[in-house]
Amino acid sequence: MRFSVQHPLNIIMIWMLLMFASCFSPSSSALLSFGSRLKCGTNNETSQRFVRSVDKVMGALSKLIAAQGWGTFSDVDPPFTVFGLGQCYQHVNGKGCKLCFNTAKEELRRCVPATSGRIFLDWCFQRFDNYMFYNEGVDAKYDHLICGSPAGVYQQEFQRELDQVIRKVTNTALENNGYAAKAAKGGVTTVYALAQCWRAIDLETCSECLRHAASGLRKCAPGAEGKAMFSGCYMRYSTHRFFGPEAETEDNKGFSPWVIIRLASAGVACAVLGAIGTYISYKRFSKKKGLDDIPATRNNTSLNYMYGTLEKATDHFDESRKLGQGGAGTVFKGILPDGKVVAVKRLFFNTRQWVDQFFNEVNLISGIQHKNLLRTQ
Ligand SMILES: *[C@@H]1O[C@H](CO)[C@@H](O)[C@H](O)[C@H]1NC(C)=O
Repeated sequence: MRFSVQHPLNIIMIWMLLMFASCFSPSSSALLSFGSRLKCGTNNETSQRFVRSVDKVMGALSKLIAAQGWGTFSDVDPPFTVFGLGQCYQHVNGKGCKLCFNTAKEELRRCVPATSGRIFLDWCFQRFDNYMFYNEGVDAKYDHLICGSPAGVYQQEFQRELDQVIRKVTNTALENNGYAAKAAKGGVTTVYALAQCWRAIDLETCSECLRHAASGLRKCAPGAEGKAMFSGCYMRYSTHRFFGPEAETEDNKGFSPWVIIRLASAGVACAVLGAIGTYISYKRFSKKKGLDDIPATRNNTSLNYMYGTLEKATDHFDESRKLGQGGAGTVFKGILPDGKVVAVKRLFFNTRQWVDQFFNEVNLISGIQHKNLLRTQ
């Protein structure tokens, strides 16, 4: 990347761009953190035919990984056979996966002319060998465990927290397609842990691998971090957050703080949208259909009296004046100041619909002629 910087504002914008980019996209340094590991086999095969096979397998894996995040591919043409496996960990996004896999491929290619090699980066794993290894879980010769320097916290408490998060991440991964990421906040610190089995292995092999990785990592305490880089799985813990909150596997027992934050943000967003919606409907209601336009409807009829007049006419809606009662209101006998006797219907309404119904009724009645209905004009 090259920027031409002509104005201080550009620097600020570039800085912001980089800050933004570093939040959302991976950087190569993140792939090769503490203990990332390249391990090449000890047997060589210098035949060009074999080297071409390795390149062919790696090329095919690139395509599979771009399409689905993982893959296995073999090129079998005895005596030269190459088997390959590559996988990005489940929490890694497409861009991160591509970057990680390209780095892994380049590093792993350096193993040639060795007939085998494996590389563990922070976001992906890749391996090639000259035999079918896809369902391997553990292999004492190659499996590797690395522990970091002490976390500097009260050891007993830390050990308890570590045991707990590792147990959780192991159990969750076995119920969750071989992947889990957990954050466990304890009394002394928060421990983050991630487990990932290769997609090519079966559940039993995954379980075996995770069990070995878990028991190894538990012995890393009081180390602030640890990585188990095994034949069938990868497990890592750290007191530093090394995966985004979106990577976390949800727990059935309760919500993690990040889930609560997400739910709360969703709630706030809904409330804001709701308030905007309510405000818009209110504006539309009061503009188009609000109570303001009732006088217009009412003015179309000839029956137009002040509320106070009707109140007086019915003796404040006295029980003794009650003529009848319906679902929507009560009808009273009223005597207007000029001595005219009228029926006054007092509605219980408090909704717009009832207001409409009422005026429809009034307009309807005043528009029809019937022997039991008198016009009052
Ligand atoms: C394989 O090749 C590497 C370098 O190309 C060399 O250092 C190593 O000794 C070779 N191993 C064997 C067993 O020949």
